Amino acid sequence: MEQTTQQTDLVKTEQTDFDKEFHPNIVALVCNWCTYTAADLAGVTRLKYPAEIRMIRLMCTGMIDPRFIVESFLRGADGVFIGGCHPGDCHYINGNLKARLRIGGLKALLQGMGIEPQRLALHWIGASEGTEFQKQVKDFVEGIRELGPSGFGVYDSI
Ligand code: FES
Repeated sequence: MEQTTQQTDLVKTEQTDFDKEFHPNIVALVCNWCTYTAADLAGVTRLKYPAEIRMIRLMCTGMIDPRFIVESFLRGADGVFIGGCHPGDCHYINGNLKARLRIGGLKALLQGMGIEPQRLALHWIGASEGTEFQKQVKDFVEGIRELGPSGFGVYDSI
């Protein structure tokens, strides 16, 4: 009985410590053909990655309207992670390259709005790169954790 009480106290302590940590809200906009499949592969091969990401699957990074990103920050995202096909592998010829151009311009805009450009990341992660997906997401979430909350959310939280 006493051991059960000790175990319960231990669990309570762990939960409290967990709750004290900053858990950023991360929106991940990922391409169906590559990064989403890589995330699925990471899952089925039991690779652990941060639970803070909320993944949204798109058919191509080329269809990411910059307003999706600004809206994510306005709704309380602390970071936006974008994953697409490697250059030359885009199923829609060059959607990923168009995305890269837009993201570059958007980073400058975000900085002007007071949002650190590191809060927005674009990575090429192929369908077979589950380990790469895990690494990039872990690094990104850790970087956002170090930056702290964006403080930019003005609407309901995501
Ligand atoms: S189809 Fe994957 S980025 Fe275009």
